[in-house]
Amino acid sequence: MRTQVAIVGAGPAGLLLSHLLHLQSIRSVVLENHGRQYIEERIRAGLLEQGTVDLLVDAGVGERLKRERLVHHGIELRFGGRGHRIDLSGLTGGRTVSIYAQHEVIKDLVKARLDAGGQILFEVGDVSVHDVTGATPRVRFRKDGGAQELECDFIAGCDGFHGICRDSIPAGALTLHDQHYPFAWLGVLAETPPVSPELIYTHHDRGFALFTMRTTRISRLYLQCAPDEDIANWPDDRIWQELRTRLGDDGGRKLRDGPMLQKGITAMRGFVVEPMQHGRLFLAGDAAHIVPPTGAKGLNLAVADVRILSRALAEHYRNGGTALLDSYSEVCLRRVWKVQRFSWWMTSMLHRFHDEGPLRQRLQLAELDYLTRSKAASTSLAENYVGLPFDD
Ligand code: APR
Ligand code: PHB
Repeated sequence: MRTQVAIVGAGPAGLLLSHLLHLQSIRSVVLENHGRQYIEERIRAGLLEQGTVDLLVDAGVGERLKRERLVHHGIELRFGGRGHRIDLSGLTGGRTVSIYAQHEVIKDLVKARLDAGGQILFEVGDVSVHDVTGATPRVRFRKDGGAQELECDFIAGCDGFHGICRDSIPAGALTLHDQHYPFAWLGVLAETPPVSPELIYTHHDRGFALFTMRTTRISRLYLQCAPDEDIANWPDDRIWQELRTRLGDDGGRKLRDGPMLQKGITAMRGFVVEPMQHGRLFLAGDAAHIVPPTGAKGLNLAVADVRILSRALAEHYRNGGTALLDSYSEVCLRRVWKVQRFSWWMTSMLHRFHDEGPLRQRLQLAELDYLTRSKAASTSLAENYVGLPFDD
């Protein structure tokens, strides 16, 4: 087999890259180790920055997104028993965020690729990458019990944090930055109306809680928990009780129980690899970086990476240039580190650091008080939250 760009991973990064390359008449093959149904039903985050929405719409894969998303113009920060609204749109000249589940984005991208005759090889096994520093890199894999080899010009490692592409780069060629937080998130998907039309981020003595949603009938709820928490210790009743406690007496807004559709524990971590490329292998999305989920940046950062990579590959195939390919890591990492900083800042401000004394909490409350009273401070939060402009 041969193609121009071999893409390992059919997550948001890999599928969007394949679609953007297709728009530039560049051929690609996507290799995915799970099946189509699995990736289209995998529950992940669900908040899209303005720039992500604009890019998906401009790329012709945003029609259902425009119809079904929930457009949000603000968020609420709750601390000291009171809620404070941050007017995202008012502070950013009208920019918004959209609630639209990541697996819905996956469905839209898979459909677009298959409708266009794109090649997505599902349920492949034993993927490995070879000769990435030569002129003809190759990807080996197993499909339907047979060994296959895909020759290509470039490989995009879009296989997420646990993929094989990053680890195929010699350790001496990379610098890894890894930050673990002393807590995790217990996340639930519940069939109950959202407690508020906008997201609520809660700073509480017992720990952080986030009240978001997927639709007007489905709530997505998160509780800060211990990093080694066992979900078996959290029966539904305990989850509802803890959510109500952390939401506090909210003057009428009541969190109603409902069937739990999904429960899970999400680790809280920050990770960046530098550089994001090696020879003709380019890492994008979670393969290159992980952000703590507090700022809802994971998917949006993956989109930003492949926006740069698709333009760099298009330049190469258009005129043989390699300037954008050569600067891929530098350009991506400028945004990656700013988003990492914002996610770290939101996480540090809102979560309870149980192993630290009351000073940390007093400083957090002072920051929240300043943030909600200062237009400059809330503008800084808003412009990061809706998504920084794409550099170029
Ligand atoms: N071979 C083939 N496919 C693989 C391999 C492998 N060895 N390892 C992983 N994959 C696939 C996974 O099954 C997944 O479908 O690569 C894909 C990687 O997708 P994501 O993990 O979603 O990463 P990315 O596309 O960068 O998107 C980042 O997704 O996980 C969320 O929170 C994350 O929102 C962020 C976004
Ligand atoms: C989500 O929709 O899962 C979500 C939204 C906002 C966040 C984090 C997660 O800050």
